Amino acid sequence: MARILGIGVATLDMIFDVARYPSGDEEVRAKNLRVARGGNVANTLVMLSQLGHACSWGGVLAEGLDSNVIVEDLARYEVDLSSCVMHLGRPPTSTIMLSRETGTRTIVHYRDLPEFSAADFDQIVLLPYDWIHFEGRNVPELDKMLKRVKEVRPDIKISLEVEKPRPGLESVFPLADVLLCSHAFAIHAGMNDPHKFLAWLRQRTSRSELLVGWGNDGAYGLDTSGNAHESPAYPPDIVLDTLGAGDTFNASMIDAFVRRLGMKEALDAACRLAGRKCGIEGFAGVV
Ligand code: ADP
Ligand code: FRU
Repeated sequence: MARILGIGVATLDMIFDVARYPSGDEEVRAKNLRVARGGNVANTLVMLSQLGHACSWGGVLAEGLDSNVIVEDLARYEVDLSSCVMHLGRPPTSTIMLSRETGTRTIVHYRDLPEFSAADFDQIVLLPYDWIHFEGRNVPELDKMLKRVKEVRPDIKISLEVEKPRPGLESVFPLADVLLCSHAFAIHAGMNDPHKFLAWLRQRTSRSELLVGWGNDGAYGLDTSGNAHESPAYPPDIVLDTLGAGDTFNASMIDAFVRRLGMKEALDAACRLAGRKCGIEGFAGVV
């Protein structure tokens, strides 16, 4: 069991289950609507908690009753909220369409809350933690947070989620022990080939373990000794909910590294868990 701190976002997700994604100006009837807590880091922490780790979340909560869904769900998974800060605003909110036809999840996201800052992070006592997982966002503040960890607790392992392109994000890659990248990021960087993408990443950080998810093609990794690894995807009988598959993959990779598995074994475990998640609605009972 490790003590894991996650820094990033928790969201209010309105998840519509549709037979197929509608075209512009069309009106379709959803088969189901779920209102749930989401957010990349929050999803990852909920999975890590189910994998037996003691988890804490550092992020911004909107003051008011609209945050109840978020707070209650994190409490259900015993995620500690004492490092959070509160601000006036609405919770970051996503309208999500899960298409039964394609298995895709399409997200429209809105947020007006300020980002969790380096000054907020400075208030967190780092002593108890073995591992800190960061979302790759708000780079100037992220840079300060990563440098503080390196300065005061260089023994804490750091993972960084690289999901969306953000100005300057590449500059902090060398500060992470593990980079967990998305397929979308690789495409945005101009590479639709995982091996080329990992080689591109390696030019930007020599000291990090490198991983990239590749949707239903599985996932790929490049370790610090220069060995390439890969795992196929493990699709469930019926793909019900791919929302948070990447966040589940990230949780399982962190869990595997904490348990000192090699990258090949870790990738395999993470693709199995992420695949299992795709066959289950939400995150309960995935482990
Ligand atoms: P994201 O949630 O960020 O879009 P990906 O689509 O890259 O993440 O998926 C992350 C991991 O989840 C993949 O590496 C794969 O193991 C698993 N996965 C995603 N979609 C499927 C699917 N349709 N069937 C089985 N596994 C999947
Ligand atoms: C899934 C997710 C959703 C959230 C959105 C934010 O990975 O975290 O729960 O609404 O992404 O980008």
